[in-house]
Formats: sequence, C-alpha cells, structure tokens
Amino acid sequence: MKVLALNGSHRKGKNTAAMLRLALAEVEAAGIETELIEITDLNIRPCLSCNHCLQQPACRITGDDMARLAEKMLAAQGIVLGSPVYFGNVTGLLKIFMDRTRWMHMTANLLEGKIGAAVAHAGLRNGGQEMTLLILERFLKAQGLFVVDDREPEGGIYNVGAAGSLYAGLENGAVRWRRNVTEDALAVHSCRQLGRNLAKKVQELI
Ligand SMILES: Cc1cc2nc3c(=O)[nH]c(=O)nc-3n(C[C@H](O)[C@H](O)[C@H](O)COP(=O)(O)O)c2cc1C
Repeated sequence: MKVLALNGSHRKGKNTAAMLRLALAEVEAAGIETELIEITDLNIRPCLSCNHCLQQPACRITGDDMARLAEKMLAAQGIVLGSPVYFGNVTGLLKIFMDRTRWMHMTANLLEGKIGAAVAHAGLRNGGQEMTLLILERFLKAQGLFVVDDREPEGGIYNVGAAGSLYAGLENGAVRWRRNVTEDALAVHSCRQLGRNLAKKVQELI
C-alpha cells in the first residue's frame, strides 16, 4: 500500500511540504509506505486541449515527466495534494498538472476508488485557503477519489482539508508572522488528523 503526496508549491520543502510531511508521518505510523513528490522538480508541459483523451485514456503529449507521475498515481492507493494559495487559487504548476490528468477520467475512471486528501497554505489568515481546498477537493472528486477531511474519530467540527497560515495575530498594532507552519498549532493538528483519516480509509480498501 502506498500514499503519494504531490506538492504544488513553486518552492520545495517549505510550508506546504511541511504540511504534507505531517500528514504522511501519520500514514507511515499506520504502516503504509509514502512518497512526497515536488512538482517543481518535474517537467510537465501544459495541456494542449487537443481532445485526444476524449477518444482514449491517453495523452498525446509525450517526452515529459507526466507519464512517470501518472504511473505512480495509478499504483498508489492514496493521493494527497498540497498547494500554497496563489491569488486565492492553486499554483500554476499544480493547475498544469491537474489539467494533464484529464485522460485519466474522460473515457475510463482510472483513479476511481482511491483515497484523496488536500492541504493548503497561505500567508494571510483568510488568504484563500478554503477556496483552494475546495478546488483541490473538486479535482479529486472529479477523478473519482473518495476525499477524507480532518474530522476527529468522535465526530464534531471538521474542515475539507488542512489549512495553514503565517499570520499569527496583532501585537501592539503590528502584524506578527509565524516563521513557518509548524508554529501554527491548528494547522499541525489538522494535518495529523487528516493523515490518520487517510490511513484508515486506505486500510479499509484491502
Ligand atoms: C504568486 C503568489 C501569490 C500569492 N497569493 C496569495 C494569496 O492570494 N493569499 C495569501 O494569503 N497568500 C498568498 N501568497 C503567499 C503564499 O501563499 C505563502 O507564501 C505560502 O506560504 C507559500 O507556500 P510555500 O511556503 O509552501 O511555498 C502568494 C504567493 C505568491 C508567490
């Protein structure tokens, strides 16, 4: 069993990556193999809108890293997407990746039944995390994944995915910023619970 995490940040190993690693640590603690891929390390060309994928489950673009990434997605039981908020939305890199997966569901639901989850990080407190998480959730659902949220086992309030921010409040009228997401206790808690919920659902697939 394997859970794949894809980081859409244009910066490797920063806040979004840290959130993904927090979730993956819980997945690993449940005995499931994990891998984090930084999309910025890959060469993924934009969709050509050639509609080749309306005829068959294949993409006409070859020679970039998308086929290798798709193989990993198809082999995984769980997929976690992470994106920083860029202008209230996912990053450009992540959107290019999302568009290139169209062939996976237009004539066959190749990712159907897998388990999905999402995390988003922004500078501001209300910087667009919720919108970005909804966009990620919608994408995962369009691809046929079952999307877990961060609810506690006993129920109660929950979020679509995990949201983090650098904004830490006001101090003498000046904005105080966190150094990174690991200082955002709610985000850390949410990522860990999301990871546990993802692991549980993946284990139920057996
Ligand atoms: C092009 C661009 C657009 C951004 N737009 C927003 C935004 O709409 N709201 C916000 O709160 N932060 C915004 N940010 C800040 C990033 O969301 C923030 O720095 C985030 O922590 C980056 O994630 P990373 O640390 O994983 O790279 C933007 C940053 C960039 C580079």
